[in-house]
Amino acid sequence: MPRYTKKNYPLVDIRRHLETGPIVLVSSAWKGKTNIMTMGWHMVMEFSPALFGCYIWDQNHSFEMIRRSRQCVINVPTVDLANQVVGIGNTSGASIDKFEKFGLTADEAEEVKAPLIRECYANFECRLHDARLIERYSLFVWEVVKAHVATSPKRPKTMHYRGDGEFMIAGRTLNLSRKFRADRL
Ligand SMILES: Cc1cc2nc3c(=O)[nH]c(=O)nc-3n(C[C@H](O)[C@H](O)[C@H](O)COP(=O)(O)O)c2cc1C
Repeated sequence: MPRYTKKNYPLVDIRRHLETGPIVLVSSAWKGKTNIMTMGWHMVMEFSPALFGCYIWDQNHSFEMIRRSRQCVINVPTVDLANQVVGIGNTSGASIDKFEKFGLTADEAEEVKAPLIRECYANFECRLHDARLIERYSLFVWEVVKAHVATSPKRPKTMHYRGDGEFMIAGRTLNLSRKFRADRL
């Protein structure tokens, strides 16, 4: 299991870890129970406030826990947690405790009741910003209110889902910053 030292991270910079579209683990807490689900359908929506949107299927056990508590934590795993990512995405929190089953540690968050997953590279604490698209699209719009990111490695091996059970693992970096306008970076 990976062990990370994490530090508070500027909220305006969370895109560095989410804009690449990594598979994330969404942790939640409601009525004394916790849960985790795997998620690939998400996007960054604003720098400040730091907004983030995601799709949560209403048949997932997490859906009601998250809708009612109006909070969650978005955790970014690396490939070290590949088995947990798949296991968590193929089981229901209605019948098992996923922290226990998948050997993960629930740490207390600072701003929300949902737990941080210690073994993940980054943890973003979220409060519901806009509930208007939930009923129609199952789309939750979050404000990230606290960010914890590991101090190393700088380029984590995150997982990116291609469908059909295939994942792409983050690899080479192509730096084209000199071709960017300064205000477009
Ligand atoms: C790679 C992967 C990506 C997934 N992406 C999403 C997603 O974006 N939204 C969603 O609602 N479910 C997604 N799922 C499915 C949920 O993780 C799955 O239904 C899970 O069992 C829900 O757990 P729960 O019922 O305990 O909430 C994904 C699953 C996997 C394996």
